[in-house]
Amino acid sequence: MIKTEHLSHAYGVGTPFETAAIEDVNIHIEKGDYVGIIGHTGSGKSTLISHFNAILKPTSGRILIDGRDLWDADKKTRIQTRFDVGLVFQYPEYQLFEETVYKDIAFGPKNMGLSAAEIEKRVEKAIHFVGLKPSVLEKSPFDLSGGQKRRVAIAGVMALQPKVLILDEPAAGLDPRGRDEILSRIRDYHKETKSTVLLVSHSMEDISRNANSILVMNKGRCAMHASVPEVFEHADELVQMGLDVPKITRVFISLQEKGYPVSRNVYTVEQGKAELMRLLQKGGDQNA
Ligand SMILES: Nc1ncnc2c1ncn2[C@@H]1O[C@H](COP(=O)(O)OP(=O)(O)OP(=O)(O)O)[C@@H](O)[C@H]1O
Ligand SMILES: [Mg+2]
Repeated sequence: MIKTEHLSHAYGVGTPFETAAIEDVNIHIEKGDYVGIIGHTGSGKSTLISHFNAILKPTSGRILIDGRDLWDADKKTRIQTRFDVGLVFQYPEYQLFEETVYKDIAFGPKNMGLSAAEIEKRVEKAIHFVGLKPSVLEKSPFDLSGGQKRRVAIAGVMALQPKVLILDEPAAGLDPRGRDEILSRIRDYHKETKSTVLLVSHSMEDISRNANSILVMNKGRCAMHASVPEVFEHADELVQMGLDVPKITRVFISLQEKGYPVSRNVYTVEQGKAELMRLLQKGGDQNA
């Protein structure tokens, strides 16, 4: 689906401020996957994802979408990519500008040249995905709460019905309830649409609860890209990169290392509880 070959990007090329933001990134993202992208501040996450819908042009290397080289193709292909690969920027609510929520969500589909009936259908579907009521559609986006504005902005990209949905820190700045709500909506969206989802987050907890695989960026390079449990096998390396495995996962890894027959693949307190109950049950059976 998305492939990069020796992808590098530098900002301010030829100026005294030239910065190599990403270097020699070689990744392959499978269709239908849910990929969590994590890395320290400045590790190149936003720079990397901005290449996937042709907002940034590589300084060197290639990006292939469905086998097609984005920058070797004609301009029409790149315009199509903006619809196929939907990108939700960090704090997307700052980009709301229409008089009503409806118009804001309909903006992208309208640019695609869809019929009014199709646009309406897509807007309805998109607000369902983000959990907004139809009654907000005629409101001004500026009259909504911060969390609601964020959802409107996300719905605007979902309404493109992209093959790939990329979200840069969609839960940033929300309270814990708002975070969980947004992340579970995105999880349901992934399940329901079977599209490819890329989620950039600073939180290993959020990523391990939601994603199937993790892509770790470190100093502009892709340090790891594997399934969640495989990445957590490298806890020491993660710590060296200023990252960490979730606390609950660490507890279960150390229990297993002490000889308890528990799974290491525990990422949430609920999973931990279920795993302990299973163990207690088993212990009980053995005593019986
Ligand atoms: N527009 C820009 N002009 C110049 N340098 C930039 C620009 N955007 C990013 N950089 C630099 O490129 C590098 C990678 O930045 P990037 O924003 O991709 O990292 P990030 O992993 O998304 O960070 P964060 O977690 O803070 O969002 C950093 O050194 C950053 O300072
Ligand atoms: Mg960023």
